[in-house]
Amino acid sequence: MSQNPAFDQIGKQYDESFVERDEQIAEGAWLISQLTPPARVLDLGVGSGLPTARQLLDAGVEVVGVDESAVMLSLAERQAPGGRYLHRDLRDIADLGEFDAAVAFFSFIMLPRRDITPLLSQLRGQLRGPKLLQIAMVLGDFDELPIVFMGAPTAVTAYPPDELAHVVERAGFEVLDLREVEAEAERNRLEVQIYLRAKGT
Ligand SMILES: C[S@@+](CC[C@H](N)C(=O)[O-])C[C@H]1O[C@@H](n2cnc3c(N)ncnc32)[C@H](O)[C@@H]1O
Repeated sequence: MSQNPAFDQIGKQYDESFVERDEQIAEGAWLISQLTPPARVLDLGVGSGLPTARQLLDAGVEVVGVDESAVMLSLAERQAPGGRYLHRDLRDIADLGEFDAAVAFFSFIMLPRRDITPLLSQLRGQLRGPKLLQIAMVLGDFDELPIVFMGAPTAVTAYPPDELAHVVERAGFEVLDLREVEAEAERNRLEVQIYLRAKGT
């Protein structure tokens, strides 16, 4: 795990800046509509717990949230109580058992591409039942591009939408939906986001 994860510096600023979460909330509602209780969801890079972990927990879904940032996890404990929150790298999931679904909203953007493919295959093996996967990324075509995000140095990765779909399919999923959405990420900064829904084959 990195010594000083970017999100330990960013913390609460992230929730305060990223106010336009309508699409992500709609994705959470779709997921809830697809699950039959009792359902178990893995939230990879759960962050502050808002909006997704909280939304799932409020609907009675069991949530396991993984994040490398202790600061973000303490926000999740407070803002989305009732989840099981684990302070670890999101690539380290083999011992977590099986899940009905996994979500990775804006967390794979912080992994190098070489790690995303094996992680998706690992995830595929841990899904059962509806075997759903949802990913949100930012539109682009770069791998580990160094940037300063909200004052914290980090590196980001993005795929063109077709390429993201191929990566997901090669790991054993069928893509159900892939959308591009323009959203106000930070105040006065529009970005194009990609939302992908998939199902294990
Ligand atoms: C942009 S935030 C998104 C948080 C949340 N999923 C959301 O939708 O608001 C990315 C989160 O992924 C976490 N993260 C990034 N790389 C990670 C890694 N390798 N292992 C665990 N967590 C990671 C960060 O600490 C941060 O909380």
